[in-house]
Amino acid sequence: MSIIKHDFKKINITKIKEAKNNYKLTVVTAYDALFANLLKNSADMILVGDSLNMSFAGKNDTLSASLEQMIYHTNAVCTGAKGAFVITDMPFGTYSNKDEALKNCVKVYQETEASAVKIEGGEDKAEIIKHLCSNSIAVMGHIGLMPQYVRSEGGYKVRGKTKEDEEQLIRDAIAVEKAGAFAIVVEGVMSDVAKKISEAINIPTIGIGAGADTDGQVLVWSDMFGFFEEFKPKFVRHYLDGANLIKNAMEKYREDVQNKSFPSKEEEY
Ligand code: KIV
Repeated sequence: MSIIKHDFKKINITKIKEAKNNYKLTVVTAYDALFANLLKNSADMILVGDSLNMSFAGKNDTLSASLEQMIYHTNAVCTGAKGAFVITDMPFGTYSNKDEALKNCVKVYQETEASAVKIEGGEDKAEIIKHLCSNSIAVMGHIGLMPQYVRSEGGYKVRGKTKEDEEQLIRDAIAVEKAGAFAIVVEGVMSDVAKKISEAINIPTIGIGAGADTDGQVLVWSDMFGFFEEFKPKFVRHYLDGANLIKNAMEKYREDVQNKSFPSKEEEY
């Protein structure tokens, strides 16, 4: 199978929608300029996820991420990956009603170069998404396991295990599409249900822990590059042994400092 590689600077909403049934979209998170720059050439979209609250700030969940933090990190990512299609996650509590949501999304648009925002929620958030879209905000939806609902749901639970939940998820996807979203993240959903969701709508689904039949995949960079050591979710594939590479390199640095082989004559002024 040949790999389709786009110029990351030429990706836009139209191309993303056209990807449905044509090629699989590759999405990755980034939180800083350095990594955004390294990842940009191979990503169709870069998500500044509120997962940064966990993988960057070390917190237990995403709920305490603030709008200011999201704006700071989005600016870093947009600077490192100039011209890339960057999506900012709207943090918990910043889109509880239409006015609040619009005010905060406008702030993101005015203070960063983000191309779009991401909102968690299905039918319950459809009116808010519709309001944002009719005010020229590009919205990516997020249904299934929604990390911002972790406390109200009592944990992270894989979705779509019952017929009732399957039907709810399909209703959620249709409602978010109808509201005007250009794509939907489908997280932590039984793969057969994720397939049905993808077939039920005309915009791309971007899966994470939702099997191979979504229209694209997203992974959190610190997970996929093996930097997060505490545990490895079933759906994560490690593309690098990041943690050990760093630890071994750091140990080598210490050795070199102690045995005075660093710095060398060539490394001094
Ligand atoms: O915050 C995040 O990184 C996300 C992805 C897991 C989709 O929402």
